[in-house]
Amino acid sequence: MPNSKYIARARAHSNIAFIKYWGNRDDALRLPANSSLSMNLAALHSTTTVEWSEERSADSLTINDAEAGAAALERVRAHLNLLRERLGTSMFARVESSNNFPMGAGIASSASAFAALTLAAVAALGVEVPQRQLSTLARLGSGSASRSIPGGFVEWLAGDFHETSYAESIAEREHWDLVDIIAIVSRRHKRVGSSAGHRTADTSVLQSARVETVDERLRKVKGAIMNRDFSALAGIVEADSNLMHAVMMTSDPALFYWLPLSLAVMQAARRWRLEEGLRVCYTLDAGPNVHCICVAADAERVAGRLAALSPDIEIVRSGPGPGAFLLPRA
Ligand code: PMV
Repeated sequence: MPNSKYIARARAHSNIAFIKYWGNRDDALRLPANSSLSMNLAALHSTTTVEWSEERSADSLTINDAEAGAAALERVRAHLNLLRERLGTSMFARVESSNNFPMGAGIASSASAFAALTLAAVAALGVEVPQRQLSTLARLGSGSASRSIPGGFVEWLAGDFHETSYAESIAEREHWDLVDIIAIVSRRHKRVGSSAGHRTADTSVLQSARVETVDERLRKVKGAIMNRDFSALAGIVEADSNLMHAVMMTSDPALFYWLPLSLAVMQAARRWRLEEGLRVCYTLDAGPNVHCICVAADAERVAGRLAALSPDIEIVRSGPGPGAFLLPRA
């Protein structure tokens, strides 16, 4: 990239939700139906350079050094439009983004991408923005991206309007050495992405029941994290994931993200915990891959058992990660 004063590079990590975000009260602002809670993932991150320029007549985007497809470019443009509006600039941007995890592995999440894009875009303009505001801006690109701005274990407070819907750390990443062992059961790109899914959440009769009871689950998960109490954490994390998937399956159109192998992993994780005392539980996002959350002391055994379950399972492993941060220019 040429020398410019409007340039910055940022890194943000992906996150896995223990209490899920599903459905918006306001789709345009991505104001969620409920508060959620997640752990950033140290092993999975996006690194993004943004360069604003008065000479540019359109935004451009590369992902992993290749020109991005129309859909990805459109989504980034839409986010840059919102940032331009809120930050008061009319410049266009050149965006270069890369992920350290394989694209299309079904573990790529928009969270790290939009958190890194937001931080780089804001920093490149030279404006100082507090973390809370940065989180609200990242939320406009992808709801879960709001949770990739702060570090460690993060709660996204649903809020009532743009300024009050932001995420904050409830504990630093050093607080608890949990490990997310992701069992990749399919590398196929999901047919229905989460943005479309959020829009149909309310068509399920189960969504109101999920939302009405979520604050109690969130309170318990928060308490379990603060006390590093895995047995208190495990059942609720699984229940919350099951509830979100029950909503998905009963929406119109119905969304089925689980594959037979997803269910096999879920049942095995539950069995290992309840019958053998391994400290592991499962949670799934809008895809078939199973995040097995476990304590570090049991991670080796869990990884070994997952590998033994099926030759079709690939494993990616991650501990708690930091919040979004700026890097020196490449
Ligand atoms: O940020 P989005 O719009 O990709 O939504 C993420 C939704 C889930 O991953 C399914 C749940 C969550 O809280 O991360």
